Amino acid sequence: MSTSAPESGTTGGPAGVPGGGSEPVEPVEPVEPVEPVDLVALGEDFVRDPYPFYAELRARGPVHRVRAPEWPDAWLVVGYEEARAALADPRLSKQWANASPDLGVETVASGVSMLSTDPPHHTRLRKLVAREFTSRRVESLAPRVREIADRLLDEMLRAPDRRADLVDAYAFPLPITVICELLGVPFLDQDAFRAWTAALVGDAPFEEKKAARTAVTEYLVELLEEKRGRPGEDLMSALLHTADEDGDRLSAEELLGMAWLLLVAGHETTVNLIANGTLALLTHPGQLELLRSDPSLAEGAVEEMLRYDGPVETPTHRFATEPVEIGGTVIPRGALVLPVLADADRDPSRFPEADRFDIRRDARGHIAFGHGVHYCLGAPLARLEGRIAIGALLERLPDLALDAHPAALAWRPGLLIRGPRRLPVRF
Ligand code: HEM
Repeated sequence: MSTSAPESGTTGGPAGVPGGGSEPVEPVEPVEPVEPVDLVALGEDFVRDPYPFYAELRARGPVHRVRAPEWPDAWLVVGYEEARAALADPRLSKQWANASPDLGVETVASGVSMLSTDPPHHTRLRKLVAREFTSRRVESLAPRVREIADRLLDEMLRAPDRRADLVDAYAFPLPITVICELLGVPFLDQDAFRAWTAALVGDAPFEEKKAARTAVTEYLVELLEEKRGRPGEDLMSALLHTADEDGDRLSAEELLGMAWLLLVAGHETTVNLIANGTLALLTHPGQLELLRSDPSLAEGAVEEMLRYDGPVETPTHRFATEPVEIGGTVIPRGALVLPVLADADRDPSRFPEADRFDIRRDARGHIAFGHGVHYCLGAPLARLEGRIAIGALLERLPDLALDAHPAALAWRPGLLIRGPRRLPVRF
């Protein structure tokens, strides 16, 4: 898959690749970059509901240079086909070393992880962890996930006023408990983790992000040391001792990166699958009724929740290793490129009536979990958690309703994670 084939009538093409005609083809020169669109200046309206703005961009073309809250200079790729192709484009690298120094971004990676490497290093890391992250292991977690959900719902039901913040009481603690148990992280540290990861994915100042990163890193280094001496039945212990047929093992730095990635990727995202999914149901009473009356729709409903309002608005960084032309615009070498998953999954050329939330539609093919070699490793776990969490919620709370006007909800800032800060409900 490549993003390099220009539509007829557009300009450019991959540098040095003949265009098919008899005329010699000029190599593509990076065009003078356009003035960035300032997403920060769009304010709260954009944070709350970015979809109309992305649709406007899409109508103008697939590539737009922007200033984003966490990135002073980035290139968005909108539209389903273009965003999906960009995710799998080998010219877009996950290695920080490929970032232009002009971007002025400091590397914020800890350890070496799948999300900061390209093949073949990435292939090696993924192979080593995929062996331990099997769907059998995931499926076997179902009864425990349901238990955790029930325990949290029991606590919610004890509230005399029958009100709660669903993020705080349910959507957050469920996935963090699951991922901590899976990895072998003591549950005691939940609160600390919440504060650290909130700083990391939110709009905290850089210094605060750095401090949170250091805290998580130190914690994980200690935990790995402990597991080395006293291995348990958990995934971290398995990863410490895993080796493939050639005896290949994860280095200390790779282990740290892996632990880090699984912890952060494994819960911040799932929190917002539960929160955004519940919100979609509560603001679409017909769909809520439908799901209540036929729980067998749950699997498809989770896919539609991921498509309609997925937790990852744009994925993690990618840097152009050469000038990359998409739809007539040349993205310069070293630039940061963000395919907009949120827009791709609302593109009516791929999903008819894309802005309509419809749990019976065929939402398969959405790219809420990414695409290509970095496709979400935890997708089976996230789907399982989403299905069980939403199912248990509807079953145990028959009178569940939103306890705030949807327009009054505050949303998390930034382009990476999309979800409400709080979701007040009554039941
Ligand atoms: C609804 C929940 C989730 C969503 C929407 C989600 C989304 C994503 C996306 C979009 C990517 C690709 C990032 C990129 O290309 O830059 C990704 C990668 C990844 N996710 Fe998830 N994720 C979820 C849950 C999880 C869970 C539960 C885990 C682990 C326990 C997990 C582990 C990972 C890992 C390890 C990668 C990197 C894979 C690679 O680079 O090969 N994710 N996820």
